[in-house]
Amino acid sequence: MTPINKVLKDNNTTVKPIWIMRQAGRYLPEFREIRKQNPDFIKLCLNENLSSEITLQPLKRFNLDAAIIFSDILMLPYGLGQKVVFEKNFGPKLGDLDLNQIAKIDEIDFVEKIHRVYKIFKKVSSDPILKDKNTIGFVGAPWTLLVYMINQQSPKKKLKENFFQDEFLINRILLIIEKFLKIHVKNQIDNGANVIQIFDSWAGLLEEKDYPNYIYTPTLNLVNYIKSLNIPVISFPREIKNYKEFCEIVNPDAISIDYNVDPKQIAKDIRIPVQGGLDPKILLADKETLKKEAKKYLDIFKDHPYIFNLGHGVLPETNPSMMDYLVKIVKDF
Ligand code: CP3
Repeated sequence: MTPINKVLKDNNTTVKPIWIMRQAGRYLPEFREIRKQNPDFIKLCLNENLSSEITLQPLKRFNLDAAIIFSDILMLPYGLGQKVVFEKNFGPKLGDLDLNQIAKIDEIDFVEKIHRVYKIFKKVSSDPILKDKNTIGFVGAPWTLLVYMINQQSPKKKLKENFFQDEFLINRILLIIEKFLKIHVKNQIDNGANVIQIFDSWAGLLEEKDYPNYIYTPTLNLVNYIKSLNIPVISFPREIKNYKEFCEIVNPDAISIDYNVDPKQIAKDIRIPVQGGLDPKILLADKETLKKEAKKYLDIFKDHPYIFNLGHGVLPETNPSMMDYLVKIVKDF
């Protein structure tokens, strides 16, 4: 069994595997080199050779326990025909949302548009470097995808005014997102993903009264679907105000935590395996601080099934040597 599967399936294990959100990305010079020559991000995500290479770049450098496929949560709205572009120093920009057009898209149209993503899974998961390691597939949670599709850009701290105004549109779009998320996940699994992570990056924007409608119910449907395919699922409802309630209701195979929540409280409150937590900014500090802070998480979760990771993606300004040091700290623990 891979170290990550041990944590997800055997609650008594003491093994502490490690992978890092955004491990394939801008902090690596070899990624930046490829990116420079490929200014169209979506095209890069659909280039199976380059995307496979980028996916494996961090594994060639560091002794990580999983590859996460180089792709993006916004490949879903792209597959539905909404325009998606990534602008330098701005982030994603989405086109207008046309419900009539999106409602007409069927599974064949969707898969035809993004089927190259699934070829990356096939290529990566059969690479010998992944022996005894996992291939992690991922999707955005329904709520976070709804945010991007309606807001048309990252919301930073708050949603655009009138976000919830057209309730009919919101409910229709949510159902469409749910339907295609299942198709997207199934294709990832059929092509070699053996863990799925659900990124709910904007869970923290909602008030608790809205959790059942926008987070619990749609995420639970997706989690149950993934479980029915016999693949473990990790949920990352970033900055949700009540991780305990989320776990009790949605019950994924593991919960990924952000860096603002108190890990001691999490260890006390939560029974399922835990992942992540360390503030990515700690990797910008000195080695001593990094060691102290990483050990804090390792100590707190010493007797808890735990996968080491950060509380959000690794920052572009991170020195790869700090990543190397972090992996060694975890492996030597
Ligand atoms: O290494 C990995 O983790 C796999 C690849 C991955 C990317 N995006 C590649 C990427 C993953 C898992 C994602 C998920 C993703 N994408 C999320 C959820 C995680 C999170 O950060 O909260 C979100 C919200 C997105 C949407 C997105 N994609 C944004 C807001 C941006 C621009 C800002 C940023 O963080 O870079 C992207 C672009 C993006 N996705 C890049 C990469 C490597 C940077 C592209 C570049 O400019 O070179």
